[in-house]
Amino acid sequence: MDITPLSPGFAGDVTGIDLTRPLTAPQVAAIEGGMDRFAILVFHDQHFDDDTQLAFSRNFGQLEVSSGGEMAKPEDRRLKLEMADISNLDRNSQLRAADDRVRLNALGNRLWHSDASFRAVPAKYSLLSARIVPGAGGNTEFADMRAAYDALDQATKTEIEDLVTEHSNAYSREIIGFPKEDYGTHNQDKLRPVRHRLVRTHPVTGRKSLYLSAHIGTIVGWPVPEARAFIRDLTEHATQPRFVHAHRWRPWDLVIWDNRTTMHRARRYNDLREVRDMRRSTIRGDAMTAPQQEAA
Ligand code: OGA
Ligand code: MN
Repeated sequence: MDITPLSPGFAGDVTGIDLTRPLTAPQVAAIEGGMDRFAILVFHDQHFDDDTQLAFSRNFGQLEVSSGGEMAKPEDRRLKLEMADISNLDRNSQLRAADDRVRLNALGNRLWHSDASFRAVPAKYSLLSARIVPGAGGNTEFADMRAAYDALDQATKTEIEDLVTEHSNAYSREIIGFPKEDYGTHNQDKLRPVRHRLVRTHPVTGRKSLYLSAHIGTIVGWPVPEARAFIRDLTEHATQPRFVHAHRWRPWDLVIWDNRTTMHRARRYNDLREVRDMRRSTIRGDAMTAPQQEAA
């Protein structure tokens, strides 16, 4: 297995490994090592089906169940529970209509975010497999929250060191003007805010990073408008081109990202006319973050 850095340096292009076959412990360790060093790994020509993708994903921990991540009722799902449906298709594999609430909810992915940061135990890795990609658009962009943290001035680092933020899906949906009434009753648990530190330390490398996400609605102890303005400033800082890698998808790409140290967002494409079938498996974090443990 070889890893070549991609611009601006925190994504690695991996060759020489077939992830659809069972891996040895050293191979899994090499991928985890690559994730710790880079934060994003890109693999090409990985011809997964859902079962082989899930089997590969389980090498890295417990899978998140994505039912709450969709507005679809369980019987409307196209994919099994461990697979987040990042497509524009309904359960009959038809393109979703312009006013489809699942489609509108999914537009939240166009905001810079970290997956499942609204959960008490937020996500560790996300693994996104491209099955069908549109002819134009639909890139995914990633931002390096370690480099963004490092580039802050010392006064800001000191100021934010111990800050705790509140995350809820309600806040990100509010940004895109998603109607509150459209939350299903099975999604209510996702609206209760959870608490995480704004500065996270990576458990393996010890590197600090900004834990930002569109799901942040306030900073504990701050007036909401002041918190939102500051979070917006930090997000603008952290998503400057020098911290961003854009991935242009080819069918059968697999991209793994570390949600603890990166943010990402989907870019626009003609989803009313072109199919984009992407499937995400998600690895749970190890435990509640300390502020959430205290709050819970
Ligand atoms: C995701 C996500 C972005 C995209 O799968 O979590 O945000 O480009 N995807 O589809
Ligand atoms: Mn996402």
